[in-house]
Amino acid sequence: MPEVTRILFVCLGNICRSPTAEGVLRYKAPHLDIDSAGTSDWHKGDPPYGPAIDAAGLRGYDLKLLRARQVVVQDFEDFDLILAMDSENLDTLAHMQPVKSRANLRLFLDYAPQTGRREVPDPYYTRDFEGALDLIECASDGVLASLEP
Ligand code: 4NP
Repeated sequence: MPEVTRILFVCLGNICRSPTAEGVLRYKAPHLDIDSAGTSDWHKGDPPYGPAIDAAGLRGYDLKLLRARQVVVQDFEDFDLILAMDSENLDTLAHMQPVKSRANLRLFLDYAPQTGRREVPDPYYTRDFEGALDLIECASDGVLASLEP
């Protein structure tokens, strides 16, 4: 199996779930090349949503310097593993993925089967930033465990 070192997290706006996952996994695994992006361009250039920055900050993850961007086709060449926060994000990505791309496209919570969930509910709407962080921390540990030889 080729080594996985480049990981992209994807959500809709790139201001809540995927930047949180980026911050959490980078904290846990600074040696990996981690980024995040949105399927939309709605928040291009924006920092993460204030309540997401605050909730992550209370657990020691610093999201303040991150800036939103939209997913581009080049991402399928630049990343080994692309992790979608929900099925809608996954569908959008699957339609974008070039035939020749070898990137592994998955739902992030595939790495946290013990949660019994497949999607990270969007805290922008649910307001449950703690619940999203719990799922993201759990799946981040699962990703790291999957990378161990
Ligand atoms: P995210 O949450 O996909 O986790 O970044 C959202 C943030 C903003 C919007 C939608 C989802 N919005 O509609 O602006």
